[in-house]
Amino acid sequence: MAGRAALALGAFCVSIASVCAQSSTSSSATDSTTSYRAIFTVPAEADASVPLIPNIYDSNATNAQDACPGYTASNVQRTAYGLTASLSLAGPACNAYGTDIDSLNLTVEYQSEDRLHVEIVPTYVGESNSSWYILPDALVQKPTIDADANITLDSDLNFVWSNDPTFSFQIIRQSTGDVLFDTTGAKLVFENQFIEFSSALPENYNLYGLGEVIHGLRMGNNLTRTFWAADVGDPIDYNIYGDHSFYLDTRYYEKNETTGNLTYAPNATDATGSYVSYSHGVYMRNSHGQEVLMRPSNITWRTLGGSIDLYFYAGPTQDKVTKAYQNSAIGLPAMQQYFTFGYHQCRWGYSNWTVVQQVVDEFKNFGIPTDIDYMNQYRDFDNDQGRFGYVEGAQFLSQLHQNGQHYIPIVDSAIYVPNPENASDAYPIFNRGNDSDAFMLNPDGSLYIGEVWPGYTVFPDWIGAVLNGTGAFDWWSNEMVTWHQNVSFDGIWIDMSEVSSFCVGSCGSNNLTLNPVHPGFGLPGEPGNVIYGYPEGFNVTNATEYASAQAGSSSQASAASATAAPPPTTSTTYLRTTPTPGVRAIEYPPYVINNVQGALDVHAVSPNATHHGGTQEYDYHNLFGTQILNATYHALLNVFPGKRPFIIGRSTFAGSGKWSGHWGGDNTSLWAYMYFSISQALSFSLFGIPMFGVDTCGFNGNTDEELCNRWMQLSAFFPFYRNHNTLSAISQEPYRWASVAEATKTAMNIRYSLLPYIYTTFYLAHSTGSTVMRALSWEFPNDPTLAAVDTQFMFGDSLMITPVLAQGATSVGGVFPGVGSGEIWYDWYSQTAVSAGPGENITIDAPLGHIPVYVRGGSVLPTQEPGYTTRDSRANPWGLIAATNMEGSASGQLYIDDGESVVQNATLWVEFSLTNSALYASARGLYNDTKPLANITILGVPSNVTSVTLNGATLSSGWTYNSTSKVLDIKGLTNSTSAGAWVSDWVLKWM
Ligand code: GLC
Repeated sequence: MAGRAALALGAFCVSIASVCAQSSTSSSATDSTTSYRAIFTVPAEADASVPLIPNIYDSNATNAQDACPGYTASNVQRTAYGLTASLSLAGPACNAYGTDIDSLNLTVEYQSEDRLHVEIVPTYVGESNSSWYILPDALVQKPTIDADANITLDSDLNFVWSNDPTFSFQIIRQSTGDVLFDTTGAKLVFENQFIEFSSALPENYNLYGLGEVIHGLRMGNNLTRTFWAADVGDPIDYNIYGDHSFYLDTRYYEKNETTGNLTYAPNATDATGSYVSYSHGVYMRNSHGQEVLMRPSNITWRTLGGSIDLYFYAGPTQDKVTKAYQNSAIGLPAMQQYFTFGYHQCRWGYSNWTVVQQVVDEFKNFGIPTDIDYMNQYRDFDNDQGRFGYVEGAQFLSQLHQNGQHYIPIVDSAIYVPNPENASDAYPIFNRGNDSDAFMLNPDGSLYIGEVWPGYTVFPDWIGAVLNGTGAFDWWSNEMVTWHQNVSFDGIWIDMSEVSSFCVGSCGSNNLTLNPVHPGFGLPGEPGNVIYGYPEGFNVTNATEYASAQAGSSSQASAASATAAPPPTTSTTYLRTTPTPGVRAIEYPPYVINNVQGALDVHAVSPNATHHGGTQEYDYHNLFGTQILNATYHALLNVFPGKRPFIIGRSTFAGSGKWSGHWGGDNTSLWAYMYFSISQALSFSLFGIPMFGVDTCGFNGNTDEELCNRWMQLSAFFPFYRNHNTLSAISQEPYRWASVAEATKTAMNIRYSLLPYIYTTFYLAHSTGSTVMRALSWEFPNDPTLAAVDTQFMFGDSLMITPVLAQGATSVGGVFPGVGSGEIWYDWYSQTAVSAGPGENITIDAPLGHIPVYVRGGSVLPTQEPGYTTRDSRANPWGLIAATNMEGSASGQLYIDDGESVVQNATLWVEFSLTNSALYASARGLYNDTKPLANITILGVPSNVTSVTLNGATLSSGWTYNSTSKVLDIKGLTNSTSAGAWVSDWVLKWM
């Protein structure tokens, strides 16, 4: 693939440029230390947790399975679509972690051929003395029965229940007899603040999903997943920003070819055997703090409230499960504008328009597409006129837009409260919100005041707006429309939406006269928080610099320990809350989830924050992040009527994908995080948020040349491609190192060539629920050896990426799935078929700057010559790469539209089909595309070619056949397709 080296800039995004924005001095992007103003610093204790011991680590904790009685089913009634029953406590209440609910209603619904719903709710829902909670459909979509009368009979899933010894149920896949979910032997516990149920799982099970977590793709059978949205920089195996209570369960079986019998094969290691897999999905529609305990033989749910609202998806493939989950429960992912697939350059620390302009210019010099970070003063919708003035900004943005580049500012979730004693501290954005009842309250009706970057803040009340019609959505939208009149941004990056608050409780209620205040922790680069960390292996590759960083780090650590408070002398006594009948302890619930921050109120708005209408954050904490995306999506539709909103959000929930993409949060510049980025992305494929990418080269800590080189290449194959960096870390724009610039150009060249394929793949995700980034096990479901592979992945169904993920490596091991059944893989660069055996781990040569990419035989990939921006690329002539499979055939598609409108006036859909030495293109639709076809490359043409015809006319020149690589390369088609490549159907033949 020869291509131009110069590449395109997709978007500029913006972060807080510098934490010292309120200071009289400003910092530069490359400062390693940053001065900050002497303002009141909130004491660190303001954000400290009471001492708690998570139940999973508490050997003295009550085991609800021992203490509680379970339930008995009665009054079982058949309904049109399933059954209903009453469940009554089967003995004295245990009140283990709340108040037992003595009477429950069970509803079982065969909602569609492949979806079964099991719901258990308190019988007295709706009565005013209820202390339990049912999640409203208005906040989280609830799947309903499909309009199909025969689904009960058609379903492959069967619900079987028993009262022996207490109520339990099984979900059975009828076609195989496999028990997919089985609560036999585990009691149902249903209290106002604690629900527990448990299912047996087979040996060595394969579960995927249950996010958001930094973990390998396959969950393993010794992991507790905690669901509580947390503002925390990507610790491994803890709860982080988002909540997705959905899993995919894949089971492999050895098939007896004679009898057809299936034998469960939990430890199969053979890629050539005759295995089959069956996958199903389980979605628990519950927004409360939750824990899912995966243990060797079972899975247990524990929630802090809500109901049991389970949806079983029969599959039996990942593709079917994911499509059904999105179509029935969470919605299909938002279609993105074409430019959003370009490269995005960010950092926290681009301190003014001039610095931003310099970065844009640097990219140009180096010929790499890039982006920019800008700073917005910590206060949403309000620029620092000294550094990011509107007039200068308007010029900058106008030029940027003329270049076909874009600008995506960050918007934080919290809203600054102006200092009531400082007349010059006016912030009308707050006043307008307050006048619209747009902010959360304390239980006494006063404003709930937390603290985030700008100082003491309030928080939009999305829940009151959705459930009680108060003004948060309209206010948010009006502020965005108004701000856009001054700053012509192109999309929005939503941050701190867990929702983060740097202190416990309504911490600023009596302190607003101190505003603005400094957080109770050092910002990156501030004294005591200077960044000395480097990637693994830096001690080998840069020994001197490493030694000096180590010295700095040690002296910073000893200075910190010298001033630190002495450790507590008494042993810790943990706070335990005893349930009070009928009353919920929402601040410190009796069951303690293993929240990464400790108590639920640490580094987050507290559970007692109250919405207009009286509901409390305890029941909604995990939904703030998704509702701000909802609000922003609708706001952007007002800013840009008719245009697809582009949003990247931090905290997500089931359903966020219909509004927004997501980035992986504050990762660290370590090789480990580059590896984890693949699993995080694949999990978000399952969660219906395909517009995903991570902070390339790493956010926290300093990166280095080698890591950044590899990572810039890897992220080029993620849908959202962004380099982002924390304040005061060393600069990491790809042009900072010659080798990284080169490697980036190479990978971007491929990405930008493939934009038509990327866009088409994304459109299929948007329109059908198929995935964009795919695990090998999803594409090759009958190879059990792929069950845990998360070091290689597919982009769509035609491209496989096998990145180098280890420091110092010059080669990488990779498998070539499906070769045992005739799959062919072509090396992207040499265009020749790879020789590999089934399951064979091939050592692939991959020196620094080379990322192995393979085209799957049987694919036709649409391409365009890469330009400097996505706009330029999009204007270039078309190309095709057709890679034949073992039958000598291939197929593919191309989707074209205007690249930005929600509703398209006209679209074009082109189908490609290669068979018997002929490639057919046939287009449908009225979108007027007049770009010619420049070239067609056909891989795997077995024998010599002596003539090529296009629609019967012989091409006398412009093509070559290489008998060694087996590539037929046809160029110079532009003249014969000058009216447009797809204006009429054509056939290209060769012999
Ligand atoms: C949060 C975001 C990060 C951003 C920073 C400053 O840590 O996750 O991306 O740069 O805040 O706004």
